[in-house]
Amino acid sequence: MTTDHHRLLPPIPYATLADYLADNGGVALLEARSVEPDVLIDVVEASGLRGRGGAGFPTGLKWRTVAKFESDLLAANVVVNAAEGEPGTVKDRTLLQLNPYAVLEGALIAARAVRANDITIATKASFTDTIRRLHSAIDEIRAAGWLDDPDGTVSIAVVEGPDRYLFGEETAMLEVLDGRQPMPRVAPPYRHGSVEVVTDQVAPASGHDSFEGAADVVMAGTGAGHEAPPTLANNVETLANVPGIIALGPQWFRQIGTADSPGTVLATVTGDVHHPGVCEIPLGLPLEELVALAGGPVRGTRLVGVLGGVSNTFLTDLSTPISYEAMRDAGSGLGSVSFRFVSEEMDPLALAAGVSRFLAVESCGQCTPCKLDGLEIAHALDRLCRNRGTATDVTTVSVRLGTVAEGARCGLGRQHETVVGSILDAFPEAMDQHLRHERAATEPTVIAATAYIDDEGERVDQSIVTAEPAWSGLQTGPANPPAATA
Ligand SMILES: Cc1cc2nc3c(=O)[nH]c(=O)nc-3n(C[C@H](O)[C@H](O)[C@H](O)COP(=O)(O)O)c2cc1C
Ligand code: SF4
Repeated sequence: MTTDHHRLLPPIPYATLADYLADNGGVALLEARSVEPDVLIDVVEASGLRGRGGAGFPTGLKWRTVAKFESDLLAANVVVNAAEGEPGTVKDRTLLQLNPYAVLEGALIAARAVRANDITIATKASFTDTIRRLHSAIDEIRAAGWLDDPDGTVSIAVVEGPDRYLFGEETAMLEVLDGRQPMPRVAPPYRHGSVEVVTDQVAPASGHDSFEGAADVVMAGTGAGHEAPPTLANNVETLANVPGIIALGPQWFRQIGTADSPGTVLATVTGDVHHPGVCEIPLGLPLEELVALAGGPVRGTRLVGVLGGVSNTFLTDLSTPISYEAMRDAGSGLGSVSFRFVSEEMDPLALAAGVSRFLAVESCGQCTPCKLDGLEIAHALDRLCRNRGTATDVTTVSVRLGTVAEGARCGLGRQHETVVGSILDAFPEAMDQHLRHERAATEPTVIAATAYIDDEGERVDQSIVTAEPAWSGLQTGPANPPAATA
């Protein structure tokens, strides 16, 4: 899949830092180091850049908030979220392969903006190609003097985390950086960041015992025990947009996209289209034009809808523009801009059962309904799509979808309710058809993290099929629960 837009993905991958510099790379970092940090925040805020990790949060506002929570005791730190666990998403790994320098330059500018000395790139230990590429790019920028900020040397480390969906949730990521399992916290990163600044290239993928429990850690500045500085957590793609904004200005950034959703975005396309993959598109492009870029539907089928990862409501209107506001108005969301297009050949109950199983397995269990109701929904949908279900299973699905998000600490519980619920709403007869055996028995669709996408389609992590849903089976459970500090 290709387009004419190359703000982030160069037409020819940057093989070396010299290639990037020849294309005006590095200009923004020089500019950033000649102005006061607050100016950088003003410029990013004026650009209207929104986070590409899922929530679409305004990036300038996030930077300003982290800067505001600055502590006299401990400097803020920057975490680059390169966990990329949303099913159907490979855009961050693609970006890091083709243009790691823009991500690193953006992270260094972000560090200056929030006066941070340390940058941690958190990715998965299983992303071996990405890790290799990152290390070679970091070696190059270090040799080029990029880490020497006028206000002091900046450290950059790569941390290799576990293959869990929740590792990408920003507070769970901070738990991993602090040596524990990826269990979401209550406090947001700007109030309660990563305590353990990783200055070496370590890999606490399975947690370790040497750190104190997060529950003992308090915000920097209170003087009451172990201090936690504010952390700026931004997605890989968010940061890659920053150099262009600083070098060319907010108005340049706004030349593409819509007023509320400026810029380009990296879309990952999977499902029943001819050419799945990643491409850079202007925000505001209608979904059906993205289908055309992906070569249209396979086998002459008709597309009946699209699923955005496992985070957003199933959409049936393919004329919807790909923007934050249009997706919100349609009752859905942009998420990490991954689109699984589904044709009339798809069994909607198998899709719902696959999403449900993924979310139930990946639920950490800190909130009882998320784990237990989630598993009940997954088991009932599993039986129904295999034509072994009963009327009780139909009731279970309906009732538990109403309770699964109760008291949810992070977004996952709500995802279960909205995503599975929206698929069943779009195909209201699906459960009854299986109950009456009017549809062929089928296994749940395998919904899991995307390993890679090639000409033959998406390859997913199949371990979800046999995965043990109880996190208590993990060898290295947390010695303490995650910080509940509000
Ligand atoms: C269950 C769950 C999984 C997530 N996974 C990812 C991920 O893999 N990568 C990512 O960048 N953000 C992920 N997020 C969103 C992060 O929590 C956070 O919003 C993001 O890193 C903020 O960066 P941004 O403001 O640049 O988008 C996830 C959120 C949830 C609730
Ligand atoms: S909502 Fe689910 S995944 Fe999130 S913290 Fe609670 S139990 Fe864990």
